[in-house]
Amino acid sequence: MYDTTLHSALEGAFQSIRQAREAFTPPLQAREIGHVSSVATGIARVTGLPNVGFEELVKFPGGLYGIAFDLAETDIGVVLLGDYWHLQAGDEVERTGRVMDVPVGDALIGRVINPLGVALDDKGVLAFTQRLPIERPAAPIMDRDPVTVPLQTGIKVIDALVPIGRGQRELILGDRQTGKTTIAVDTILNQHDQNVLCVYCAIGQRASAVAKVVASLREHGAMAYTIVVVTEGNDPPGLTYIAPYAATSIAEHFMHQGRDVLIVYDDLTNHARAYRELSLLLRRPPGREAFPGDIFYIHSRLLERSTHLRQRFGGGSLTALPIIETEAQNMAAYIPTNLISITDGQIYLSPKLFELGVLPAVDVGRSVSRVGGKAQLADYRRVAGSLKLAYAQFEELEGFARFGTRLDDNTRKVLAHGQRIRACLQQAEHQPVPVAAQISLLQALSDGKFDTVPLEQMQAAEQQLYVAAGFRPAP
Ligand SMILES: Nc1ncnc2c1ncn2[C@@H]1O[C@H](COP(=O)(O)OP(=O)(O)OP(=O)(O)O)[C@@H](O)[C@H]1O
Ligand SMILES: [Mg+2]
Repeated sequence: MYDTTLHSALEGAFQSIRQAREAFTPPLQAREIGHVSSVATGIARVTGLPNVGFEELVKFPGGLYGIAFDLAETDIGVVLLGDYWHLQAGDEVERTGRVMDVPVGDALIGRVINPLGVALDDKGVLAFTQRLPIERPAAPIMDRDPVTVPLQTGIKVIDALVPIGRGQRELILGDRQTGKTTIAVDTILNQHDQNVLCVYCAIGQRASAVAKVVASLREHGAMAYTIVVVTEGNDPPGLTYIAPYAATSIAEHFMHQGRDVLIVYDDLTNHARAYRELSLLLRRPPGREAFPGDIFYIHSRLLERSTHLRQRFGGGSLTALPIIETEAQNMAAYIPTNLISITDGQIYLSPKLFELGVLPAVDVGRSVSRVGGKAQLADYRRVAGSLKLAYAQFEELEGFARFGTRLDDNTRKVLAHGQRIRACLQQAEHQPVPVAAQISLLQALSDGKFDTVPLEQMQAAEQQLYVAAGFRPAP
């Protein structure tokens, strides 16, 4: 007997299978694969990826990544971001369709990482939820507010004479071993009660120098609000090149949440050298000092990202302290002049002062802060205004006084006062002085209260003043 119900049920089932089959489109995944044609120090040339985008991330065997940097007609030049010793001509290269990015967020605070987001400390892998591209456009002018809030460094000579504001870019430059890193680290240490997050980006430094900085930050409890991004001297140049951009994205994330952030780039001389190395390997034409033509642009687009945002955009700020190493006190070399013109001022550290034991070795005459003065606390302006002039006069006279000429009373007074100013502005490392203590010291100084104190007793006098004013407990 023919069962009509069964027939129609079967017919219905076939129908739905047919419909499902017609609606099905197999998930085609296009993977673009090219091949390595040659490998050189830190770069590889790759063929067979005609659609790759500028600065796109590409993947090599063994979990190695690279950035497509040089797009030519027949092949591309890729900057390698890790150990490339296993790489050989003929190896497969895959497009990823994304640009280089870095983990961001609260989980990074207190950590030491590399620019790829790999933890270098012993606290395990990073637990992050968000990533940001390392290269991001700077905030447009209309989104920015003037710099109005001071960033207190706790270093007397800087807070009084070359003040820095939140959102400013202040260059620290000087010969090797003149205390550049110490100024940046002391500034970070002073932020412990200022609600400023800090990012310290070590670029192509000796491992021992990085370890020393991390140890001082740990010792003074500064890791509670600091992120350290590290590339060392033996890292591939590609990794060194991306380090400051990655660190800036990490800092920017907090700025866009309305926080005040301080970022230290230590140092951009190494960054420029890494970029020069890459450019020469990619056979780009060298210019002055063998740097490529776009060396100015790599630093200007980095430092343009530091700013003070309008209240409408959260009111956060990013203050940058880029560091540059000069050679034989030559501030007029290519990279220093570029950076001087990009930043809002510079703190120049003099090896001569360092040798004389005037520490920190800030050369006040050659240092300037172009926007910080407007953000400086009014009390500083009152007590430090006359100081700068008196100190400049003293420095000028000091040169003449060395000839042993007979000096009149007035000159002798200016010299004595200047020497007291210099003594008062000296400061040991890792000992930030709070604002109120600085102001009472500067007030006493500009009132001439120290002029009769013998020079060798200046330090004791300073300590006595702090004790008398209640800033330090009596010994
Ligand atoms: N205010 C200071 N008081 C005492 N010692 C200081 C002071 N500032 C710096 N130093 C000492 O000077 C030395 C050099 O300092 P630092 O490492 O900061 O210099 P640098 O310019 O960063 O050097 P490099 O060129 O190697 O990076 C260090 O041993 C440091 O302890
Ligand atoms: Mg240093």
